[in-house]
Amino acid sequence: DRRQLLQGLNVSISAGPTREPIDPVRFISNRSSGKMGYALAQVARQMGANVTLISGPVSLSAPPGVKLLQVETTQQMYEAIMAGIAAADIYIGTAAVVDYRAALPESHKIKKQADQAIISLQKNIDIIAAVASLPNKPFTVGFAAETQGLEEYALDKLNRKNLDMIAANWVGNETEGGFDSDQNALQVFWHGGRQTLDMTSKLQLAEQLLVLVAQRFADKSAT
Ligand code: PMT
Repeated sequence: DRRQLLQGLNVSISAGPTREPIDPVRFISNRSSGKMGYALAQVARQMGANVTLISGPVSLSAPPGVKLLQVETTQQMYEAIMAGIAAADIYIGTAAVVDYRAALPESHKIKKQADQAIISLQKNIDIIAAVASLPNKPFTVGFAAETQGLEEYALDKLNRKNLDMIAANWVGNETEGGFDSDQNALQVFWHGGRQTLDMTSKLQLAEQLLVLVAQRFADKSAT
């Protein structure tokens, strides 16, 4: 019965974009709508999990029964996730975390001056790599958003970040799925296996992915 697949498990899910201020009115971010992460939170809850959803700024409301923590910057998302991670059995990183922040955000609105301007950027912490390097790490599922070399880059992230599973999707202008779309398709990889989940609604896809996660989690717990 699918309704019991994640019964009693604590599942943390990150969703949406993060946002990095440049000055009081401007920021660096991306096109993530949160739809994929919120769909996973909704279905994980329906499968019996205690779900914590750590979300960047999006226009969605929390699915029923899901604990929502709203954050803005990557550092805030990192802190909110780390504060609860010791209790998590499963972590799913769907958030499109902004990799670089402005090194020195201005305290006043930047004035228009020269024809060219340079913003110095500083690398952000990698949240999922930090989660997966914990001694008692949860079963860790990453996402990979790629515009080229999907399988190669996804497998590299699976291994380099020490993940248990990765769900890769094509993103960019010509694809139906990915950022903001109501639909998506995923190539899922884990150590010793892979599965293609064809283009469908993000809600359907969330269910298919969570079935795989529950199976792999059970297999791993049994060993
Ligand atoms: O929100 P939607 O509009 O529904 O769109 C869904 C989605 C396209 C955002 C989603 O399906 C997706 O692909 N999410 C991951 C986007 C991403 O940032 O991928 P990445 O390849 O840059 O990162 C790889 C993994 O590392 C991800 O699990 C990411 O959450 C994690 N990461 C990345 C950088 C960082 N500093 N910390 C992280 O935890």
